[in-house]
Amino acid sequence: MRCETLLILACGVPKLAESNSSTPLLQVENLHTFFDTPRGTVRAVDGVSFTINKGETLAIVGESGCGKSMTALSLLQLVPEPAGYIESGRILFNGKDLLDLTWDQMREVRGSDVAMIFQEPMTSLNPTFTIGWQMVEAMEIHDTTTGQQARKRAEELLSLVDIGNPAQVMRQYPHELSGGMRQRVMIAMALSNSPKLLIADEPTTALDVTVQAQILGLMRKLQQEMGMSILLITHDLGIVAEMANRVAVMYAGHFVEYATTRDLFRTPLHPYTQGLFASLPARARRGQDLAVLEGTVPDAANWPPACRFEPRCPYRWDTCAKVPPKYHPADAVWPSRCHLYDPEITDRPRVGAPRGKVPSGSELQSAEPKAETPLPEQVAS
Ligand SMILES: Nc1ncnc2c1ncn2[C@@H]1O[C@H](COP(=O)(O)OP(=O)(O)O)[C@@H](O)[C@H]1O
Ligand code: SF4
Ligand SMILES: [Mg+2]
Repeated sequence: MRCETLLILACGVPKLAESNSSTPLLQVENLHTFFDTPRGTVRAVDGVSFTINKGETLAIVGESGCGKSMTALSLLQLVPEPAGYIESGRILFNGKDLLDLTWDQMREVRGSDVAMIFQEPMTSLNPTFTIGWQMVEAMEIHDTTTGQQARKRAEELLSLVDIGNPAQVMRQYPHELSGGMRQRVMIAMALSNSPKLLIADEPTTALDVTVQAQILGLMRKLQQEMGMSILLITHDLGIVAEMANRVAVMYAGHFVEYATTRDLFRTPLHPYTQGLFASLPARARRGQDLAVLEGTVPDAANWPPACRFEPRCPYRWDTCAKVPPKYHPADAVWPSRCHLYDPEITDRPRVGAPRGKVPSGSELQSAEPKAETPLPEQVAS
């Protein structure tokens, strides 16, 4: 571990009590996040369960409008109010339910135990203040560090994210920096209180491919040095391959497949996951939207009544439009929400289960998982 990192860790604010090491750092149970709208109730997050262990990266992947960002914002209770609200569920952080905390307690958790970075750094950066001023203020909100000491820490943090001239950057305004530099500054701010969990929502989508690779490499390096966990939200399977230990595929408000990255890339089970792989951009097109999947994500105020992927699924048959598929196997390490894998559904046509449609050749090279894959664990639907 680098000395700068040690110094930053040493200055961290008091954290929520640690629980025993077998407890996942984060355990989300049956989370429902809705919006009341004139069109009716928007079921943006509709029964999502997952865990994140200490030091690992879980990716949530899916097309736009599937509920990824609302899942992330729910964890920090930052769902846009008053229309949005957490309808039910549990969010256990180190064994303690964040939904039981008061507003002030939750404010302490945000930015100290759990930090979040966004696709657009200007969401977090104020254009009217210098980088130095904003970094110092972010520390003072959560920390006792003030004045010169805070400025020194801010410079150390900027060095940690590989900014070569921290003193100068401290004096600059956000608009004077490139997109990549702003993203580094936002990561530095997110790390200022040594979070145990970093939530990164499409952190590199707005960046060109070279800068994207640098930022992802930086996140991996910092994760190794600081031992933090990462929840990574992305629509890009190439990024999943580079970063994640495990991956949840999200479609229409809930997960349709949940597996280790290696398993998912070797044999994607759910037809939606297979569709994502079929539309995997080649290296040159990486970062662009997934284009090959036919059709669009349905309206969250009006999800299809049974299988939500049924209108777009090449394997659909009558039952798919009538009976909601369950996770199968329900207690498995690798569940998939599709009738094709349900032994109790006996009327399926004789097409057989779609087998893994793994991309080949250069596509596979660009998508080969790099993150070490830990042993999978049990998942509840
Ligand atoms: N403020 C809002 N009011 C009503 N619906 C919303 C609001 N914000 C998001 N939604 C809906 O919630 C669903 C999930 O959105 P989101 O989590 O942002 O998707 P993703 O991040 O996967 O693109 C979408 O259907 C979106 O229209
Ligand atoms: S349940 Fe039917 S429609 Fe839904 S993904 Fe499986 S095969 Fe396709
Ligand atoms: Mg989003």
